[in-house]
Order: sequence, then C-alpha cells, then structure tokens
Amino acid sequence: MKLAITGTPGVGKSTISKHLKDKLMEKGISVEYIDLTEAVKRNNLYIEKDEYMDSYVVDFQKLKGYLKGIKGDFIILDGHVSHLLDVDFIVVLRCNPQVIKERLEKRGYSEEKVKENVGAEILDVSLVESLERWKKENIPVYEIDTTNRSVDSIVDEIIESIENKKIKYGTVDWLEDYFFMLE
Ligand SMILES: Nc1ncnc2c1ncn2[C@@H]1O[C@H](COP(=O)(O)OP(=O)(O)O)[C@@H](O)[C@H]1O
Ligand SMILES: [Mg+2]
Repeated sequence: MKLAITGTPGVGKSTISKHLKDKLMEKGISVEYIDLTEAVKRNNLYIEKDEYMDSYVVDFQKLKGYLKGIKGDFIILDGHVSHLLDVDFIVVLRCNPQVIKERLEKRGYSEEKVKENVGAEILDVSLVESLERWKKENIPVYEIDTTNRSVDSIVDEIIESIENKKIKYGTVDWLEDYFFMLE
C-alpha cells in the first residue's frame, strides 16, 4: 500500500502521518514514512528554489525515481504533492482557513506565502487535483475535515477508510464563509 497524505501546508499532514505510522506499527505492520518536502530538499529533487516564495519547484521525474528505490509493505507519502505521485490511496486533509493562517504565521511564513496557501485551501486545490486521479485512474480519495478533531480520531478514521476502501469527498465548503480571505 502506497498512501498519500495530502493537503494544504499547515493542515496537519506530518502530525497525522507520524501518528498513523505509530499506530500501524503497533498493529505489526512495517511502515516506511517519507516527508516529501524533506526528501526533495535533502536529495536535490528540485528544479529550482523559488526564493521569493521560499519554496522548491519539485522535479517530479527525479522524485519518482527516488521513490522507486523505497520498498515496504506500507509506505506513507506525506506532502502537498503526494497525490500527484504513484499511490494506491489518497487522503486529503482539510482544515479551517483561519486555523491554517494562524499556523503558517506561527511557522514564520511570509504574508504572500500564507495568502497563497490559505487561498489554496479555500479553493480546494488538493482535493480537486486528487479527484482528477480518482476520475482518470480510479485511485480512491478520502477527504477529512480535521478542524477541532483529535489526531487520534483522525488516524482511526484513516485506517478505517483504507481497510474498507472507502471514498468520501465534498465534506467541506470554505468558499462561502471565507471568501473574504481571498481578497
Ligand atoms: N488535529 C490537530 N489538532 C490540533 N493541532 C494540530 C492537529 N494537527 C496538526 N496540528 C498542529 O498544526 C501544526 C501544523 O501541523 P503539521 O503536521 O506540521 O502540518 P503539515 O505537515 O500539513 O504542514 C502543528 O503545530 C501541529 O501540532
Ligand atoms: Mg509537514
């Protein structure tokens, strides 16, 4: 199983992924966990660094090549581009845009970068891209609104969704209430 944990930066991907790994290991499953942002930086899997946005433009060919070398029964790919990779199941984490804004500001992101990411969350970018994979390649997509939920309950829901190959999306709609944040 190759699992993508995707979503806007700040949504909780790494936190959830690490707990998920621990919980699966407790069940006796061996898990490989990969933080894609770290892997891209450490292994030079990028085309260039966007200095203005302080982010890396991923070289997908290189990244895919790197991931081919990673073996395991259960591989968790944690990152906002994970849903664009060769995976068997996509979990799209969602979170209230105000909460994401606060988290990214705390992380020291520039105003521009915060705005770009908050905008992406409001406009469902990760979900829309993931649903393309579902439509074209039948890769199941499972969306979870993590807002005000415990990490533990989210992890349990992810395990349950994978075990039962569940599909769920269309559970959040930030646009109406948070349109003002796009301006
Ligand atoms: N379900 C949650 N409840 C409360 N805080 C959370 C939850 N998930 C993540 N966080 C917090 O939000 C921040 C961003 O989480 P992180 O996992 O780094 O996001 P991402 O990997 O998607 O950028 C961290 O400070 C983390 O502790
Ligand atoms: Mg992360």
